[in-house]
Amino acid sequence: MKVIMLGAPGAGKGTQAKMIAEKFGIPHISTGDIFRANIQKGTELGAEAKKYMDQGLLVPDELTVKILLDRVAQDDCGKGYVLDGFPRTIPQAKVLDEALEKLGEKIDYAVDVDVADEHIVKRMSGRRACLKCGATYHVEHIPPRQEGVCDSCGSDLVLRDDDKPETVMNRLKVYHDQTQPLIEYYGQKGILRKVDGTMEMQDVFHAIVDLLG
Ligand code: AP5
Ligand code: MG
Ligand code: ZN
Repeated sequence: MKVIMLGAPGAGKGTQAKMIAEKFGIPHISTGDIFRANIQKGTELGAEAKKYMDQGLLVPDELTVKILLDRVAQDDCGKGYVLDGFPRTIPQAKVLDEALEKLGEKIDYAVDVDVADEHIVKRMSGRRACLKCGATYHVEHIPPRQEGVCDSCGSDLVLRDDDKPETVMNRLKVYHDQTQPLIEYYGQKGILRKVDGTMEMQDVFHAIVDLLG
């Protein structure tokens, strides 16, 4: 099964994508996590991506598409995957569709995790992220067992550089301009499924599992 998670920054794409990936035994692929891992390792790709991410802008399609296509060609993707944060523009969606078509494959579902802008800024300031394994927490809603420490891998948790309120506002604008058109794109293909992302995390998860079933 191949699933795309759509939604504004902070809608909970990453949170839900991890749970879906675990339930169905398929990899969770986040282009944002791949970029952040590269920034942490100090690679050339990381340095290039950081220039855009810190301003809340999208990393250019050319770079992003190559990384994603390389990733989905790996062996662990044979049974499918959950894409989180890709595609984010119509050109990215088209390149993905064309690449899959050549293999005789297709995306099964695009899940839109719907959360209004008012909720987003509040959520982001409380988010804490593990840059090592990609796990995310929220100081109020989803706290780690020990404050500041990742439950999964024991690394320190940080506030992401792009979670400052000004940058979040930019990311929301970029989302509405460049990413939201994908809702219509997948709607026309008949594979769009919408879920209310303001519910409790577990309720959002159950709603998604029902939609995929
Ligand atoms: P990316 O890492 O994808 O960031 P994003 O889309 O802005 O989304 P987030 O990760 O911020 O939010 P999320 O929806 O995953 O929410 P989460 O589950 O963490 O991308 C970062 C940057 O990389 C981009 O700005 C861009 O520059 C670049 N990039 C990445 N992909 C790209 C692409 N394809 N093309 C070009 N550039 C690209 O949840 C948020 C918070 O809310 C957490 O604290 C969480 O614990 C909490 N929470 C989750 N669910 C609930 C709930 N139901 N109730 C209460 N709290 C909840
Ligand atoms: Mg995320
Ligand atoms: Zn971790």
